Amino acid sequence: MKKNQKSKSGKQQNSGQTKSKKKEPLWMWLGLGISIVIGITAYLYYQPPETLSASATPEQVALGEKLFAENCLSCHGQGARGENPAQSRGGQKADGSYLAPALNGTGHAWHHPNEMLFSTVKDGSIAKGSTMIGFSDRLSDAEIVAVLQYVKSLWPDEIQVRHAMRP
Ligand code: HEC
Repeated sequence: MKKNQKSKSGKQQNSGQTKSKKKEPLWMWLGLGISIVIGITAYLYYQPPETLSASATPEQVALGEKLFAENCLSCHGQGARGENPAQSRGGQKADGSYLAPALNGTGHAWHHPNEMLFSTVKDGSIAKGSTMIGFSDRLSDAEIVAVLQYVKSLWPDEIQVRHAMRP
């Protein structure tokens, strides 16, 4: 009987302990949860300057203009008006090859999210037989971002806003 009582009180003590212990982890989890939420929010709002979704710096646009002249102008034309400005959306030539579209906002390019514009320039077009080949061996990621920031700087304000608001 005595033994039983002892173990009973011991049990009570134990359960008392676990009860008070239980509260701490709750606060810990809450704290952790809050830190995670703050972390994610900070991550979403902080955009490093090298990403395409951040607004361009004047240096980026100037570098991009130079890189465009060296690497893209031959196909996409002066001011990125397209190989044939009358066909700003590109399309196919009589021989079945592709026309380089305008990238200046009159074409279709701005309908693509940043990631897709970037991957088209870095890895090349997914269109079979396209002359738009990847620049990963010629341009660094930062240079690709710069050239696309230049391209985006040619877009009318309205298109820049609409593109930025895309999901
Ligand atoms: C040899 C010619 C050629 C060169 C050089 C070239 N492109 Fe292209 N580009 C094309 C053609 C043709 C297309 C359209 C067919 C396609 O999407 O594959 C295209 C498509 C694109 C697209 C997708 C546009 C859309 O409306 O979907 C982007 C963005 C692009 N080029 C950017 C660039 C940039 C930036 C450079 C320079 C770093 C460059 N291109 C150099 C020929 C070229």
